This record gives sequence, C-alpha cells and structure tokens, in this order.
Amino acid sequence: MILNGTLDLAADLGGVAKAADFLRQGLLVAFATETVYGLGGDARNSDAVAGIYHAKGRPSFNPLIAHVASVEAAQRFVEWSDRAEALAAAFWPGPLTLVLPLRANHGISPLVTAGLDTLAVRVPAHGTARALLTAFDGPVAAPSANPSGQISPTTAAHVRAGLDGRIAAILDDGPCGVGLESTIVGLAGEPALLRPGGVALEQIETVLDAQLHLHQASDMLTAPGQLQSHYAPDAPVRLNAGTPQGDEVLLGFGQVSCDLNLSEDGNLTEAAANLFSALHRLNSMGRPIAVSPIPDHGLGAAINDRLRRAAAPRDS
Ligand code: TXA
Ligand code: MG
Repeated sequence: MILNGTLDLAADLGGVAKAADFLRQGLLVAFATETVYGLGGDARNSDAVAGIYHAKGRPSFNPLIAHVASVEAAQRFVEWSDRAEALAAAFWPGPLTLVLPLRANHGISPLVTAGLDTLAVRVPAHGTARALLTAFDGPVAAPSANPSGQISPTTAAHVRAGLDGRIAAILDDGPCGVGLESTIVGLAGEPALLRPGGVALEQIETVLDAQLHLHQASDMLTAPGQLQSHYAPDAPVRLNAGTPQGDEVLLGFGQVSCDLNLSEDGNLTEAAANLFSALHRLNSMGRPIAVSPIPDHGLGAAINDRLRRAAAPRDS
C-alpha cells in the first residue's frame, strides 16, 4: 500500500478507533505507551510484522514483544505459571515484559518470535495504549518506534523524525512517563533478567523471593536491546565524566553545572523519564556528549545499561 505521509492521530475515541482500523488492515501505527512509543502491527499478520522490521531496518532475527490488554489475553498465547502470576499481579499493567513458552495454536506470526518457542508479552499501563489494545482486541507486536540502533522515542515528534512516511499513523499522547523500555524477565527456564528497564530488578526479586540469573550476552539470541551499540546518537558519548572536555556538552545528574540535567534532585525516576529526550536534544547539537556518573541501583541500572550501549563502539 502506498502511504500519503504519516497521519497524526489525537489520543481520543476517534483517533483510537482509526488506529485500530489501520491495525486491522495490516498497517503500522506508532502509539504512546508509558515506557516509549511503540511501532505496532497485528502480531498474527506476517505481512504487517514484516513491515515493522522493514520500517525500522531491524535485523529480522530479533524477536518482538506482543502487547495485550489483559492477563487473560496474555494467557491465550503463553503457558502461564505461578511465577508469571506473581509478577503480573505485582506489575501489570506496567513496564514489565514476561518471556514464556508459547501455547499450541497460538496464532502468532513466527516473525514475531523469530522462530523461538517462547513469546515476550506485556500489558502496558498507559491509558491510550490500553484503549488501542481493547479496541483492536488482538495482540499487537511493537518494538520501540525508532530506526534500528538509534535513540528510542519518548514523544510523537521523535517518532516522526525517524519514521515519517514509513508508517500509517502516530497515535500522539504526549511524552512517555517512564521513559525507558520495559524490564524483560525470562520465565521459560530459571527466572532471568533479559533486559533491565522500567521496573527495578530489586522489586522483581522481592516479589519472586529469588535472585534472577543475569543474562550473558553470549548465552542466547542476539537482540537489539542486547547488541553492544544501540540507542546510539550520532556523536560520541563519554560516561562517568566529571567536567566536559574540549567541545563536549555535559549531560548532568544531581548538583552539577552542565548543559542539560537529567535530574537536579538526583531522582532516578525523573532521570529515566528524561533520558532519551535529553539524548535526542544533545544529538541535534552535533557535539560530543559527556555524561555525569549515575548511581547503579534501582532505575539507575537501566539508565546505565542504555548509556553504555549509547557509548559503545559503533559497527559502522
Ligand atoms: O517498553 C517496551 O518494552 C517497548 C514498548 C513499545 O512496549 N518495546 C520494546 O521493544 O522495547 P523492542 O523490540 O525494542 O525490544 C524487545 C526486546 C528485544 O531485546 C528482544 O530481543 C526481546 O525483547 N525479546 C522479544 N522476544 C523475546 C523472546 N522470545 N526471548 C527473549 N527475548 C525476547
Ligand atoms: Mg528498541
């Protein structure tokens, strides 16, 4: 289908209904969630899912998260367990993704799982995302709505800057509150942290009353959130910086003199919400980026994970 540009849809009843219609037609819609904007397509429709990979320029061996409206909807696609129940009760709807064994006759396109026998599922908390999933009444595959390898989008303007003309519409509901992608927990074997994110590891371990295995990059699939260089601005990034050197702009945290501060109060939740927007802004200044040290506990672990990838050596 030839697109006449990408429509901007307001996050009202009409906009949500139109977005659900586009999904039913196999078209792609970016939509606000509490973590980052997602690039959604019908998870049962291989043409739509192939379109997601194409629009993002994403290597197709990287599986996608299926977004659903409720625990009951998730249970149609994956084998449920006591641990899944405990984590869902504590954190759904919210910024947590669970990787569970696929059920028989699940109907999910193999392009979503990249041929694995597990599926990543998430019930988002964001009102507009929930309204869209309820109106569509099916599973929506949605990676972050950015070209592969680039900074994740936390506003509709970020989505448009990266994907304009490649997708049918953007369901705009302002900036994302959490600002970091969901935490991914693998429950197909021993519980494992597959990606730090919007729910702190410590909280998950408290609910499970167990320590999570920390995923080793070499262990299993190569995934975009696990590739070394990811979330990458065009400019080089230097971490744990005291003062800026040469032409650098300083992204600060806490009481420091800097060009842009993630949180003057040293609040990690606020810093997470500001992270990707700050990287987008500093990137547009075209100067090298230095970043103040960020504590590595709570949401700081996920912030540091994203910053390390933004700073990693580039493939090309
Ligand atoms: O907050 C989020 O999770 C956002 C919003 C849109 O919901 N989505 C997101 O998707 O971050 P994406 O595609 O950028 O990241 C999905 C991650 C990848 O690292 C992928 O490898 C992993 O989930 N993943 C998906 N299915 C998996 C599976 N079956 N086993 C292991 N990892 C999986
Ligand atoms: Mg992503």
